[in-house]
Formats: sequence, structure tokens, C-alpha cells
Amino acid sequence: YVVDKGNHRHFMEKEIYEQPEVISHALSHYVDFASNRISDNVNAIDFKTASGLAISACGTAYLAGLVGKYWFERYARLSVEIDVASEFRYREMPLSPSQAALFISQSGETADTLASLRYCKDHGLKIGAVVNVKESTIARESDAVFPIMAGPEIGVASTKAFTCQLAVLASLALGAAKARGTISAEQETELVRHLAEMPRIMSRVLNLIQPQMETLSRELSKCRDVLYLGRGTSFPLAMEGALKLKEISYIHAEGYAAGELKHGPIALIDENMPVIVIAPFDRFFDKTVSNMQEVAARGGRIIFITDEAGAAASKLPTMATIVLPNVNEIIAPMIFSLPIQLLAYHTAVFMGTDVDQPRNLAKSVTVE
Ligand code: AGP
Repeated sequence: YVVDKGNHRHFMEKEIYEQPEVISHALSHYVDFASNRISDNVNAIDFKTASGLAISACGTAYLAGLVGKYWFERYARLSVEIDVASEFRYREMPLSPSQAALFISQSGETADTLASLRYCKDHGLKIGAVVNVKESTIARESDAVFPIMAGPEIGVASTKAFTCQLAVLASLALGAAKARGTISAEQETELVRHLAEMPRIMSRVLNLIQPQMETLSRELSKCRDVLYLGRGTSFPLAMEGALKLKEISYIHAEGYAAGELKHGPIALIDENMPVIVIAPFDRFFDKTVSNMQEVAARGGRIIFITDEAGAAASKLPTMATIVLPNVNEIIAPMIFSLPIQLLAYHTAVFMGTDVDQPRNLAKSVTVE
């Protein structure tokens, strides 16, 4: 059927604003909202007895997987081996049939991801697919399919598929934790309650930050380079922010673990390169702020993406501070994705690029 842009200028914008609705749809597949428990269908892969988990994907789907690694390791105490599919498929890593494997792909047709899947299948691993297109090759070749229910994503830059992948991965990680007995029933219901609140918070945030994102994007569109920093699950988000910006605005951007700043990228800091710091008020906050201090001391201009508690706790001068509501750690990556997506989107609009069809890129990469 035909998908149109509705009232939006671009599919990307439409897909950003669709997120509260599609995430709610995705969650309802994996979570029982009546009891605030994870549904049993997440155990279509036997996480309980798995000796480890291998994850492989490309681009944005890989970055969703990287957030997933933090969750599986923290909540389910399951160690995760993750790599971009183009490396994973050739690394000749030792694998055992006691491990499970997850392949994340919006299209379900990405050549390298499919090759990684086949490599794991040949080694006897149980295969799970986190896909948007349920009829795709990756879905067909898997033992269990975990649909992300995002609906058709037309914009080449992935937005709603990313946050739906995150919602599904969070549910799978909590399901694995439940099966492995590494979280209590109380912790499970508490975390699920936070997941259930997420769509409503997303709607509120989208409305709240829209004007500020447009103003800031005007500034960003004048820059040649942008650095994104984050720790913990905000580290993959920093890389996702950089990927999104370069894909559609063609501005050079890099995402770094905040703690790596002094191991190289600090040499780049000057008044011309904005540094976007992603720092919810979590257990990494103080560490990230001290990295921010190092940026400020060298005349760097900081765009600080934080929450109310974080904004109150830091007195550092910034070029702009984006204040999101305080949310539980499990949903922070999805909520903090919103300003990152909108910044990239509006910057590209200011620059007049072809937002939905950026140069040189294909929506689905079916060749190696
Ligand atoms: C995301 O904005 C990119 N266009 C790209 O990195 C994409 O996520 C990647 O090619 C993977 O595609 P897939 O999810 O369809 O496998």
C-alpha cells in the first residue's frame, strides 16, 4: 500500500513523530501491560541456558545492538560478543552451539548481516532476528523472529526503526534476565512500568524540544565538524548522533566514548567545533561532566543534552542545554534519541540536502 508524508515535509520527520505510536505497538508485543510483566514470547530463544550471546548488524542497527549489549550484560548477566556484520562474518571467532545469536536489521536484507547469520547457523547457534520486515530473508532464515513493528520506514536515515529496535532489545534483555533469575519479580514489574510510560514521555518530549532543536540546528548547519560524547548506553547514542548528522547533512561528525576524549579527540577542540554531550543524570554523570570541563577549558562550545537533574547539577557554561524530563535508565536511550534525530533532521533541512534520499546512500544494502 502507499505510504504518504501526511502533514510532514519529509518521511524522516513523519517517522520521528510516529515514534510514540509505533513504540507502543512494539512494546505491546513483548510486554503484558496489565500485569507489567515481560511476555513469554521473548523466550522463543532460550536465553536461560545460553552460555553467551553474539550480536551482529550494520549501521544504526549495530548501534542499537551495542545499547542492547549493555542491557543483556547488566540485567541478564549474559556476556555479549558484538561486531559490525562486515567484520563479524570474517573474524573466524570461536563460537559454540551453546550460544545464542541475534541479528538486527530494519530491512532484513542487509548482505553482511545475512552472511553473519549464516556463519552462526553453520556453527550450530540458535538464531533470533530483530527485524522490521517480517517476510525478509533474515527473518526467514532465523529460528525465532522478533518483529519491531515500526511500520514502513521510507527515510534512508533510520529513526523509528532504531528506537523500536531498542524497545524490543530492552524487552528481550529483561525477558532473558527473568528467565535467568538475575532480576526479581519486583524489579521486572518496575522496569516494565517504565517501558510502558515511554510512549507518553516521547510525545511530550517531541513537543517540548521542537522549537529549540530548530534554533540550534541553524548554528550546527554552519559547522564543518561536530563531536558527540557519551558514556554507558549514551556512548552508542553518541555514535548514532554522529552517523545521523553525517548521513543527511554531510557535516563531518564523530561519536566517542567520553572517557576516550583525552586519548586523542581532545586535540580537535576549539571554538569552531561544537561538542554535543549526551549525559542523563545516571551513575556516569559526574565522569561525563568532568570530560565536559576539559572541553570547556579549551574553549570548546558545548551542546549539553541532559535531564532536569543533570541540568541542576552542572554549572558549566554551555552553548545550549537541552533539558529532558528525568527518566529511568532503561528508557533513557530511547528518550535521548529524540533530540539527536531532530538536530540532524533540522540541520539537513537548513542545508537544503535531500533529507529522505541522501546522496550515495541506499535504504537497504543488499550487496557486500
Ligand atoms: C541508518 O540511518 C543507515 N541508513 C544505515 O546505517 C542502516 O541502519 C544500515 O544500513 C542497516 O540497515 P538494516 O537495518 O536494513 O540492516
